[in-house]
Amino acid sequence: MSIQIKDKIFWVGKIDDRKVPFHRLILERGTTYNSYLLMTEKPTVIDTVDIEFGREYVENLRKLIDPAQLEYIVINHVEPDHAGALPALAAAAKKAKIVTTELGGRLLKDMFRLHHREFILVKDGDSLDIGGKTLRFFETPFLHTEETMITYSVEDRTLFPCDIFSTHIAAGELYNDLAEEEYVEDFKLYYKLIMSPHRPYVENMLDKLKGLSIDVIAPAHGYILREDAGSFIRLYQEMSKAGNAQDKKVTIVFSTMTGNTGKAAQKLAEGIEEKGISTSVFNLKNADVAEVAEVIRASDGVLIGSSTKYADMVGKIEELLGLLKEKGVGSKLAAAFGSYGWSGEAVTHIERYLCDAGLKVVNQNFLIETLGVDQPLFPLRVKFDREEGLNTALKAGGVFAELLK
Ligand code: FEO
Repeated sequence: MSIQIKDKIFWVGKIDDRKVPFHRLILERGTTYNSYLLMTEKPTVIDTVDIEFGREYVENLRKLIDPAQLEYIVINHVEPDHAGALPALAAAAKKAKIVTTELGGRLLKDMFRLHHREFILVKDGDSLDIGGKTLRFFETPFLHTEETMITYSVEDRTLFPCDIFSTHIAAGELYNDLAEEEYVEDFKLYYKLIMSPHRPYVENMLDKLKGLSIDVIAPAHGYILREDAGSFIRLYQEMSKAGNAQDKKVTIVFSTMTGNTGKAAQKLAEGIEEKGISTSVFNLKNADVAEVAEVIRASDGVLIGSSTKYADMVGKIEELLGLLKEKGVGSKLAAAFGSYGWSGEAVTHIERYLCDAGLKVVNQNFLIETLGVDQPLFPLRVKFDREEGLNTALKAGGVFAELLK
C-alpha cells in the first residue's frame, strides 16, 4: 500500500490496528508507522516501520521502486517502531547511505550491526540535496529519545518530525481532514504521555520551527496533518507552557560530618536554580526537624542527603525521615544524596524511607523510564568532595529540575 501525499512523496507505512503494547501502555486504537519515499533523482526514504513488519515493508516498497536505487535512508529516531525495518531495507538498498545524528549513527551501528555501512551524520541545520528537493535536519534531543532529529523538505514545506506531532491511532484515512473519528484528544494524550516529560526540549524544538514555513506535518504515527498544520504547532506551544517553572520550589536538607555532603547540596541547588526553580537548603544541624518537615510539605520536590558513618546516616536525618513517613507529605518528587569515603550506604537508607513515606523517588530506574538517562545520577553519591562528583551533583540538580517542569 502506498499513497502519494505531495509531488514525488509517497506514504509507504504500515497500519497496525492491533492493541499494541507500547511503553507500558496498550494502544487501544492501534497506531501507524509512517514511512515516506521521496522519488527524486536521488531517491530517499524517511524512517521505516516497526521491526515486526520489515520484510513486508520492503516488499511493499518494491511496488514503487527497486530498493537498490535508493540513495539515502533518513532515520530520525532509532526506536524499533521507526528504525526496526532498517536492516531489511539496508540489505535490499545496498548503496543507500544512512542519514542520522551522530548518536543515532552509533546506536544504529551497534543495534543492527551496520558498521560496514556508509553513514552521513548530520548536525542541527544541515542540508542535503536529494536531486530536486532539499532536506534540512534539526536535532531534537529527547523527543523522544536523545538521538532524535526531525527532517524538513524545503520545496514541499513539509515537516517529517517522527514521534513529534504524532497520534497513536490506526488512521486508515491517513489525513486529518478525512478523520472519521475525533482524534485531537488522542493527539493531546500522546503529547502528555510521550512528550511532556521532556517539556524544555519541546520548547527548544518549537524555537527551531519558527524559521520554517510549514504546510504539512507528516509524523511517524497517526494522521498526516495537512489541514491547519499550524494549529497543532500552537497546541504544542500551549501544552508546553502549562506547568511553568517559575512557581516551583525544591527543599534540600542534609546532615554532614566534614562538610562534603553540604558541598554536594550546594551543587544540587545550583543545578536546580540554573533551570529557574528556587531552592531552600537546610543543614539539619542548625534547623528544627518539624519546621523543615513543614517546608518540605509545601515544596514541589525534596532532596535529602547524609554522610555515611558506620554504614548509616548521620545527625537528625533519620528523625526527619521518620516524621515524613509518619505524617506523609504527599507524593512529590524526592531523591537521596550524600558524600562518602569508601562505602556510602546512607543514600540507600534514605531512599528506603522516601519510598515508605509515599514519595516519588527519583533513582536510576526512574530516570531510565522517564528520560532514558544512562548515567547514574540518583541516588547521588559523591566521593569526598571530588570535582568529578560535584560536577555530577550539578548535572543531577538540573535533571531533577527538569522532571519538575
Ligand atoms: Fe514512535 Fe519513540 O517511537
